Amino acid sequence: MGGPVIIAVDGPAASGKGTLARRLAAELGYAYLDTGLLYRAVGLALLNSGRDPADETAATAAATAFDAASADYSDPALRAEETGKAAGTVAAFPLVRAALVEVQRQFAANPPGDKLGAVMDGRDIGTVICPDATHKFFIEAEIEERARRRVKELQGRGNAVIPAQVLQEMKERDERDRNRAVAPLAPAADASVVNTTNLNADATFALAMSLIR
Ligand code: C5P
Repeated sequence: MGGPVIIAVDGPAASGKGTLARRLAAELGYAYLDTGLLYRAVGLALLNSGRDPADETAATAAATAFDAASADYSDPALRAEETGKAAGTVAAFPLVRAALVEVQRQFAANPPGDKLGAVMDGRDIGTVICPDATHKFFIEAEIEERARRRVKELQGRGNAVIPAQVLQEMKERDERDRNRAVAPLAPAADASVVNTTNLNADATFALAMSLIR
């Protein structure tokens, strides 16, 4: 015994999984990894070099060349909607996913800063990356509510947004994430599924903590 505690927090965009995962990590003193940033970084590398994220060969090369240790995760371009879209496109390619497996497992097995655990935020942590995670959560919410949250978040960052377009793009990304052949977005059989449509961040956090304890 004695390996790090691993908490998997999976779910679709704007479900509340990122908020929950960060809060769990802060409360428990564990390391936190937003695995979406890895896919976003690969998508952004393609966009920045004028290549098409739908080009599987280019996407695979970018993922293979990606150095997770030296990447700049504070680049605001990583959070842009266009980058999220590119991330969703590259994330469907099996060799892109394969290139990013090891860095995620390493983080979980050796949480940085000698932390006793890791909270892993993603889509396939409980199913593929860390099937033996100590705790698994699958956070979901109705798509209309998730789109509302995303609109609010984007407006909060000063972006002009068209709500109907945000909803449409979210539907498309969900569809791609749920239906891809490799590591589709789905709850692990042993995950606690939490629907946050009518649950605020505090209530979601309290529920997750009670399940952990
Ligand atoms: O969570 P985030 O919106 O940053 O993720 C961007 C995209 O990256 C997702 O829509 C999904 O396609 C992909 N992704 C993934 N597996 C992960 C994390 C993200 O496929 N573990």
